[in-house]
Amino acid sequence: MSVHSKILNLISLESKTAIVTGAASGIGSSVARRLAEAGANIALLDIDEQRGPKVEKEIQQLGAKAKFYACDVSLYSDCESVIDGVSKEFGNLDILVNNAGVISRKDIVELSEEEWDHVLRINLKSVYQLSHSVIPRMVQNGGGSIVNIGSGWGIKGGPKAIAYCASKGGVVNLTRAMAIDHGKQGIRVNCVCPGDVHTALLEREAAQMHQDFDSFLVEAADRPIPRVGSPEDVANAVLFLACELSSWVTGSVFVVDGGGLA
Ligand SMILES: NC(=O)c1ccc[n+]([C@@H]2O[C@H](COP(=O)([O-])OP(=O)(O)OC[C@H]3O[C@@H](n4cnc5c(N)ncnc54)[C@H](O)[C@@H]3O)[C@@H](O)[C@H]2O)c1
Repeated sequence: MSVHSKILNLISLESKTAIVTGAASGIGSSVARRLAEAGANIALLDIDEQRGPKVEKEIQQLGAKAKFYACDVSLYSDCESVIDGVSKEFGNLDILVNNAGVISRKDIVELSEEEWDHVLRINLKSVYQLSHSVIPRMVQNGGGSIVNIGSGWGIKGGPKAIAYCASKGGVVNLTRAMAIDHGKQGIRVNCVCPGDVHTALLEREAAQMHQDFDSFLVEAADRPIPRVGSPEDVANAVLFLACELSSWVTGSVFVVDGGGLA
């Protein structure tokens, strides 16, 4: 075997099934595409029933098996029944990317209890819900890889984003705890913490801060590698953690932010 094909084998996800949440937009759709390019079959989960089927079609056009599932990841019942359906349709479940997320740019006095619950349920509780259903199935197949999407604000704080910072801090340490519990079962659990990435979420953030998006982008680009991230920057890190190249990596927090936190 040539060195080149050895490397390709390590990256290949052929015959693997990946579940990606928040797959209808931004980072999630890019992750779904990149994992499909590496050979995986993809279950796309999202609450957005307009964009989800479009991403499904794009991925099918890459030659991969892909199916969109309408799923509100904040609801336990949705997560359980959708994972059941994915398992029946795709067979073995090998990769879970917990990516769906929302932000609310408010401080603790401004934020209502409903808004707190909304952010925590989507960003943090969903990771529990989906992993709770998927891990027993991964154990049956002898293992798998879970990648949770955190944030730089899961490691440091940020202004007017208390629920977001709390949820992402939770995702970072939940990742470590899950990695400890499931390593012996062949399941690796890692977290990718992006900096500012050009997506709809970033546009909503600028609007919530009553800031013009262009000036928001200029500020966001102020980092050692002076640009805002692309969804593909994050998708490449997820591919590394999903494939065999990272076979001894678990419980890690992988910062992808152009050096912003540094
Ligand atoms: N964009 C950034 O700058 C940035 C930075 C750090 C971390 N992140 C994280 O990356 C992840 C993806 O964010 P993005 O920037 O691609 O945002 P995005 O808004 O483009 O995509 C988020 C997706 O999640 C889906 N979603 C929202 N609520 C849902 C629910 N209840 N059930 C199912 N799906 C739901 C949305 O429909 C959307 O398709 C999030 O967890 C976010 O916190 C983003």
